[in-house]
Amino acid sequence: MTQDQLKQAVGRAAIAHLVEGEIVGVGTGSTANCFIDELAARKDRFPGAVASSEATRRRLEGHGITVYDLDEVDRIPVYVDGADEINAAMQMIKGGGGALTREKIVAAVAGKFICIADAAKLVPVLGRFPLPVEVVPMALGHVRRELAAIGGSPVLREGFVTDNGNLIIDVGGLEILDPAGLETRINQIVGVVTNGLFARRPADVCLLGTAAGVLTLTAG
Ligand code: A5P
Repeated sequence: MTQDQLKQAVGRAAIAHLVEGEIVGVGTGSTANCFIDELAARKDRFPGAVASSEATRRRLEGHGITVYDLDEVDRIPVYVDGADEINAAMQMIKGGGGALTREKIVAAVAGKFICIADAAKLVPVLGRFPLPVEVVPMALGHVRRELAAIGGSPVLREGFVTDNGNLIIDVGGLEILDPAGLETRINQIVGVVTNGLFARRPADVCLLGTAAGVLTLTAG
């Protein structure tokens, strides 16, 4: 199976985890796009969605799915999103597409986080994928120096502005043995909006696309 076929398989598998009649939280990226396309085929069963990015909003609306602002909804029982890396504890690196802050906000509101990923995303230790950090533009130099002091190699994502009008620094060269500790530490740097570690709020379930089929993983 190709990586695209694995993404389609997990996008389809996520449908079974949704709560009919309830708003769906929808993530960002190529795997989340596969989920959106599956959701579109069943859109009459759901009142609408909350999007984690403008790109996802456009794709949902293109399919005729109603998109609500987060503040318009009382609850989001289930949030479905991809990941750049996920470990056995269901902790993730996210933000390869730059949507990490809105993704983290929607995930914080959601009852359940269903991560959909192809097998290549499951890793023993997070950090091979450069960790995205969203930064207020005027703090760029300061944050870059602080991230270098932590031990990483911070690189500005050239020509990219987030949906929130901020910049992204990608931090390479990290071997993240304490994801929750590093998530907190980076968030304490003044000028950081958020970082792409989803460790304090990990996924509840990972639907992992493998050649042998879709595996359902949970922590522990
Ligand atoms: C978007 O900002 C990211 O968090 C994505 O969820 C993540 O990069 C996974 O994207 P793909 O499904 O395209 O690999």
